Amino acid sequence: MAEASPRDFSASRLFDLSDRTALVTGGSSGIGLEMAKGLLQNGARVIIASRSRKKIDEALAELSGYPEVSAFEFDITRAEDRQRLAAEVEQRFGSLYLLINNAGTNWGAKLEEYPDAGFAKVMDTNVNAQFALTRDLAPLLAAAADAGAPARIINIGSMDGLHVPVVQRVPTFAYSASKAALHHLTRALAVELGPRHITVNAVAPGFFASRMTRHVFEQYLADIEADCPLGRIGQPEEIVGVVTYLASRAGSYTTGAVIPVDGGTSISKGRGSVSEADRKRSFRRPD
Ligand SMILES: NC(=O)c1ccc[n+]([C@@H]2O[C@H](COP(=O)([O-])OP(=O)(O)OC[C@H]3O[C@@H](n4cnc5c(N)ncnc54)[C@H](OP(=O)(O)O)[C@@H]3O)[C@@H](O)[C@H]2O)c1
Repeated sequence: MAEASPRDFSASRLFDLSDRTALVTGGSSGIGLEMAKGLLQNGARVIIASRSRKKIDEALAELSGYPEVSAFEFDITRAEDRQRLAAEVEQRFGSLYLLINNAGTNWGAKLEEYPDAGFAKVMDTNVNAQFALTRDLAPLLAAAADAGAPARIINIGSMDGLHVPVVQRVPTFAYSASKAALHHLTRALAVELGPRHITVNAVAPGFFASRMTRHVFEQYLADIEADCPLGRIGQPEEIVGVVTYLASRAGSYTTGAVIPVDGGTSISKGRGSVSEADRKRSFRRPD
């Protein structure tokens, strides 16, 4: 990547990711696939990694216009798969500039019926495995890093790790707990890895269309929109933009941050957006 002048603030240079190697776990669908597209369009070479061969093949077909994309079949919860992935990245690229820990899962059930296995699966996928993969790839990230151009880790958390979700009628105890843990892990790793010139940040999305949310949207889209001060779900570019910032020269001095991208839902405390009628009511003088 050609050295950018420190006073070159043009968006094309500030957010340029040419020649950067990025790994997106869970990059075969949903938010991960959109992020992979964004990184490719800004010049990065991208590896997407997830379990299902079918989903990977569909994603590769969708990304076929980009020469710098490859895929890896792995289950993030399996130590041997993580080690195979680290070995492959080392052998093919020698280092890794950007790790996006995006693979994730959810489980909804009433308190009395919430199974131990469901809770363990969510914590294992969304927390334990994210930590283990980060640890296993840290040497390759350090190999791509220097003080002026740190390597990056971006953890995909959730607004549900910032507040207690109120919209879904099916409780997701393990999911919120796992995402809160991932946010705090982000801060701990930022302190640990800063001296090795690696930034660690989290993005906490609100509702975006994906396989994970399809069922929820079928039943609760109106409630979700009413619960959001901006009155709608998020659009792909609104996640891709934040991730591109964190990955780019513009984001080099941001670390340990947890950035909500949720239209204000996590700070609205379930009160929904303020309607015009509500607004008038709150400004009426008492008689
Ligand atoms: N969509 C939203 O509204 C929303 C909101 C907040 C946070 N998020 C977070 O965003 C991330 C992506 O979710 P999404 O909404 O885009 O859902 P999605 O389309 O279901 O994507 C999940 C991805 O993770 C992969 N994955 C799941 N378990 C895995 C495992 N054990 N090993 C490797 N890969 C695994 C899946 O592929 P395979 O099944 O092939 O493995 C898939 O590519 C998740 O961390 C989620 O919690 C999403």
